[in-house]
Formats: sequence, structure tokens, C-alpha cells
Amino acid sequence: PRVLVLFGGRSGEHSISCATAGGVLRAIDREKYDVVPVGITPAGRWVLVEDDPDRWAIIDGRLPEVVDGPSRVLLPQAADEAGLSLLAPDAAPSALGRVDVVLPLLHGPFGEDGTLQGMLELVDLRYVGAGVLASAVGMDKHFMKLVLAGQGLPIGRYTVLRPGAFERNPVAWTQSVALLGLPVFVKPARGGSSLGITKVDDLAELPAAIAAAQVHDPKVVIEAGIVGREIECAVLGSPDGRRPRASQPGEIVVTDTRHDFYDFEAKYLNEAGVELTCPADLPAAVNAEVRELAIRTFEAVGCEGLARVDVFVTPENRVIVNEINTMPGFTPFSMYPRMWAESGLGYAELIDELLQLALT
Ligand code: DAL
Ligand code: MG
Repeated sequence: PRVLVLFGGRSGEHSISCATAGGVLRAIDREKYDVVPVGITPAGRWVLVEDDPDRWAIIDGRLPEVVDGPSRVLLPQAADEAGLSLLAPDAAPSALGRVDVVLPLLHGPFGEDGTLQGMLELVDLRYVGAGVLASAVGMDKHFMKLVLAGQGLPIGRYTVLRPGAFERNPVAWTQSVALLGLPVFVKPARGGSSLGITKVDDLAELPAAIAAAQVHDPKVVIEAGIVGREIECAVLGSPDGRRPRASQPGEIVVTDTRHDFYDFEAKYLNEAGVELTCPADLPAAVNAEVRELAIRTFEAVGCEGLARVDVFVTPENRVIVNEINTMPGFTPFSMYPRMWAESGLGYAELIDELLQLALT
């Protein structure tokens, strides 16, 4: 099969997506798959790019980026027939040929949020991962919480600031945030990789934290801080209507005290300051509950293919769902593949399984 490996994109997680693609380009089975690497520039141009894993890695803190060039591509196959080439009016004619499946390794808005998925549905292309609705729900922390709570899943306390709400009545909103108890985490509703997130320990810091989140999204979610261990679990879809599978859970421990929490720096630039342990050292019953809740979260959101579910385990061993990520970081060192490796499914096999799921 011909696989369009699609990465980069317009979100703040552009470089993380490139790093994910580097890992996949290195590991994908070339005997079995014909790979077409296409990058999306931060401005949204689609270009045929170097099929070179090293070009896309994060090396010494240098964040890779897709640059515009002469090899712009049109949307493939049915796009032309459907007249959708209008979406890229100044692109040169496509040399892509037929594509059997798209591997959209995109994180954040315009990639992981259902917009790209909708476009792929329109042009009748198969793709790996969650569909339109599940992607959109997984991206929006506000609607994600409504969907999870509505299906009885345990989540933390939170409040939502619609665009302009705080500015209209800062005093009332500050009181309402105070009721959550400090600290709180102030987050863009639609974001990823901790971009725009601030931990607030003092209400005086709230306006600045809200402004920082609004750089990424005018809608802001404020969550009560939860005392507990940060545990993650990888979920993989199954064919034939069988139940999705959950990996061994992993644990994140931020060891470098310069990081207030598992922020962007700790995630990608100072990995020495973080310990990822898999399997997490949990009592058997808690391990089972994390895995069960991960599958129920995946199903509640209507996911397909893959997702990583992040939870807290409190000192009383209560499990609280924090969020789901429908296209989790996917370098060989990322939690998602590592948790599968620990569960007996290697990186190349995992990529193969995801592609096969999308192709059948
Ligand atoms: N948003 C990042 C890539 C993750 O969830 O892993
Ligand atoms: Mg996320």
C-alpha cells in the first residue's frame, strides 16, 4: 500500500509532529509500504518533503520545521474530481498518484481536531485514527469533559471561560475560580503539549494565566489541581467490532524542580528532568482500573485506531480521568509507543497494526 505520511501543520505542536514523523519514517516497514512524506508548513502549505528521519528529529533542542518549497502538492485523487483542488489554488499539479491510506501524524488544531479528518472524508481517503467527531471532542477540553461526565466517567472539577467572559466580570470569575481551590491549571480549551498552560498558586496570577491561554484559544478551561500520580495508558483499536485494547500503564515523574509540572520544556527539551516509568508501579487492582477506564474513555469519545488516556491516581487510589489525546506523541521515545513496547508490541509492529486497521 501507498501511505501518505502527513505531518507538521499549523498548530503550535508543529515541531512535535515533525519529530513523530521522523520516528515513523525510520521504522515503517519499507518492504510492505510505499511511503509518501508530505509536510504541512506552519502557514498551511502542503509540500512533498525529504524522506529522511534525521531531518525531522529534535536534536539538541533544535525544533524541526517544514519549509515551503517548489514541491507543493495538491490534495490527492478524489480531491481533483470533487473540485477540492480549489483548496490549494496556487499549487502545482500533483505528482502524488494514488494514495491508499493517510497517516495523519498531526497534533493540535488543524490536524488532530477533526478538520483534517473532515477533509479526508470528503476526498474519500482512508486514514489512521479518530474520525471527525471524536477528534473534535478529544481536542476541546470543555466538550471532552461534558462527554466523559455525561457517560459517568470520573473527572476533576473545572470551570470554562467563554471568550470575553473573564474580561466582562473579573471579580465574579476570580471568586468562582477560588471555589475550585488552589492551585488551578489554566489551559487553552483546544491545545496540546502543555502550550499556554499555567499552574496558578495565587489568584493575583490569574489574569496573566488567562491571557497566556488565550494566545492559543479564546476559550479557556480552568481545572482544580489534583493531588495524585500522573499515569498514562495507551489504547489501540481492534478490528471486527472487538473491544479496544489497553496497554500497561506508564507513569510520569517530573524530577527537575525547575518545572512546575510536566510542561512543554519538560516534555521535549529537558527530558533529563522527567522520568517515564513503564509499567507504572501500581497495585494490581489499580492497574486494572486504569486500563478499564482508558478503554471506557476511548469508547465514550468514540475513538478509532489509537489514543492515549491520561489519568491521576490519588493517594487513596482513586482514578480520575484527565484527558484523552487522539494523536499522542509518537516518537519511539514517546509514552504511547513505549507503553505498547512494554506490553509486547514493538514500534514497527504498532505502526503496521494502525495502518492495517485503517486499511480494513
Ligand atoms: N499533544 C501531545 C503530542 C501528546 O499528547 O502527546
Ligand atoms: Mg492533550
